[in-house]
Parts: sequence; C-alpha cells; structure tokens
Amino acid sequence: MRRPMVAGNWKMHGTRASVAELIKGLGNLALPSGVEVAVFPPCLYINQVIEGLQGKSVAVGAQNSAVEPMQGALTGETAPSQLVDAGCEFVLVGHSERRQFMGESDATLNRKFAAAQACGLTPVLCIGETLEEREAGKTLEVVGRQLGSIIEELGVGAFANAVIAYEPVWAIGTGLTATPQQAQDVHKAIREQLAAENTEVAKNVRLLYGGSVKAANAAELFGMPDIDGGLIGGASLNADEFGAICRAAGN
Ligand code: 13P
Repeated sequence: MRRPMVAGNWKMHGTRASVAELIKGLGNLALPSGVEVAVFPPCLYINQVIEGLQGKSVAVGAQNSAVEPMQGALTGETAPSQLVDAGCEFVLVGHSERRQFMGESDATLNRKFAAAQACGLTPVLCIGETLEEREAGKTLEVVGRQLGSIIEELGVGAFANAVIAYEPVWAIGTGLTATPQQAQDVHKAIREQLAAENTEVAKNVRLLYGGSVKAANAAELFGMPDIDGGLIGGASLNADEFGAICRAAGN
C-alpha cells in the first residue's frame, strides 16, 4: 500500500513573523497518522520551521537544491548535503516555475535529482504540461519526456526512493483545477510508463497531484486510484485549510 502524502510548497512566501504564525497553526493541527505531511518553506526559513515543528510529525523539504551533492564553490546555491545537515528529508526537483522562469532543463534536473539522492534526500520530481501543450494534445508526450529523462539517465530504480508530482502548469495558482478524471488519466499514464520498466517501482511510487488543490476539491481528487496525495501551493499557507487537505488524504 502506498502511504498518502500531502506536501505544502510555500514558494517565495513568508517573513519570519508570518512563518512563526504558520508554524503555530501547523502545531495545533490534528493530522491523520496515515498520511505523510511535509512542508517546503523558502530556504531561509527552513531552520526556523524545523525548530518550530520539533515533535510534530511534519517533514521538511527544500524547494530547490544544487546540481552538486556536496558543499563547494557554487555561489548562491544550497547543496543537498547542507539540506540534510539542516534536517530536510525532501527536495522539489523541476517545479514548473523553475523550468519556466529559471530555464531549468531536463539535463540540469537529472543532475539535481541524482545529487539529492546521493545525499539521502528524497526528490519530488515535478512534471506537467502548459495549456498550449494540453490544447495541442501533447500532455502525455510532454509529461512522458520529463519523466523519461530521469529514467534514461538514472534508471527506473531511481524512483524506488522518489515522489512524482503531476502539476499541470495551467492549473497552478489559477484556480483552475484539473478534473479528477483529467488528473487520473495522466497519473495512470505515468504509472504505466514506469511499469513498462519495473512493475514493483511503478506500484510503490507515490504520485501527487498539484494545481489549485483546496480543501473543497481535495477529497474528490485523492479518491482517484492513481492519485496518492497532493502538492499544495496557495492553500498550504493557511494552516487550517492545509490541515483539512491532509485529513482528506487520510479518508
Ligand atoms: P497552487 O496550489 O497555488 O495552484 O500551486 C500548486 C503548486 O505549484 C505546488 O507546487
């Protein structure tokens, strides 16, 4: 059985004060024990969050990490080994905002994914198509290429210790959610692509949906057979809303 997961990507939001508020709110939540809950604060606040959530079973991850595993001369970057040192367990790899606005290519992301795993971090690989690609009927081709890039470079076994998040770019921060069936269709294709290489890996890997998930639509999405939870943006900045989404994954 795959353990459901709900992850909150805080993106570039927060101040010391608002992060302290959010920590307080998360600390007060009754979280379902069957769900793995994680938050991804801006790097600057990771220490504050890890300290503030001590004793609470909420894992912490980073939104990005360097192409090299170990610390060294790479100005402005954070090494996966440093994230582990801080107490992180996860790292996002290839969020669409980084692919789009920071120009991160599949080749760069292969390196980031490998570097993260080399240090014991669990990468959360984010994949998804733009509206233009969906309208051109290219959704599965695009998602298949993004996933295939890691499989070709690192082997399907790399997904024995990774999470995949399907995030259609057109659904991110737009209030437009993929319908449960639209999301399920892509998740099924992702699992089939992995299964073609290794059925055990495909069966066990968690596939999260991301894109305008809220408490109001979470249960329906998480009820689909190949959707194992969610990667939540805006709604994860409100502790009560995030808690309700976590509970939806537990049901
Ligand atoms: P929203 O939930 O704000 O649409 O963001 C989704 C996302 O990009 C999570 O990584």
